[in-house]
Amino acid sequence: MRVVLEALEDPHPLIGLATGRSTALLHERLVSSHRSGQTDLGRATWVMLDEYLDIPQSDPRSFRNQLCRDFDGIFDAGSTRLIGPDLGLHDPSAICADFRSATAGVAPHVQLLGIGRNGHVGFNEPGSKADSRTRVVTLSATTLADLDPAVWPGPDRPTRAVTRGVADIAEARTIVLLAFGTAKAEAVASVLTGPVTTACPASLLRDHPDLRVFVDEAAASLL
Ligand code: GLP
Repeated sequence: MRVVLEALEDPHPLIGLATGRSTALLHERLVSSHRSGQTDLGRATWVMLDEYLDIPQSDPRSFRNQLCRDFDGIFDAGSTRLIGPDLGLHDPSAICADFRSATAGVAPHVQLLGIGRNGHVGFNEPGSKADSRTRVVTLSATTLADLDPAVWPGPDRPTRAVTRGVADIAEARTIVLLAFGTAKAEAVASVLTGPVTTACPASLLRDHPDLRVFVDEAAASLL
């Protein structure tokens, strides 16, 4: 959390946000520190990393709506301080083009990241290249299998998403990668000790000048 707090001291902090259980824990701590007056989240601009496609803007399961719940009282879905894909544009290529232009040259002070079991970051699935940019992607079989059936019980599960690319992520000054639990152990070992390969997109960030990886014992168990 210290690295985010340091970034928040900038006059115009820019924080890249990911969605998921791993980063939600950090969001919770940031918001409670804001509420207790220890830090000020009010000056920051927040940049989303990715979003499901083919769901309506109002869907509570969209990443935008999840983040607004995490940061309740800090920003809301229509806030100009939250830059992200606009599902209201409906057409995936329009959503992608709009997000691309809204984030052109946007390099967060800190980019928060979770990691998929298959080594994905954002929705840069295996096969994504180091020079990849914001684009529409098809979710991999592993990612689809990991969608919580309690949250996505029906046939309306998303199969596509828009994501900032590996090259976009690499432009952040600092990257904070969070991984917890045994399910992430293999991915963590590949990122830190395996080959740098598009088969594990997070490994493409290994040479970033300021990549910080935070794991619990379970996620570190294969190191
Ligand atoms: C999704 C998101 C990723 C996130 C991953 C892991 O696929 N697109 O950005 O890192 O889930 O989520 P969790 O932290 O819930 O395991």
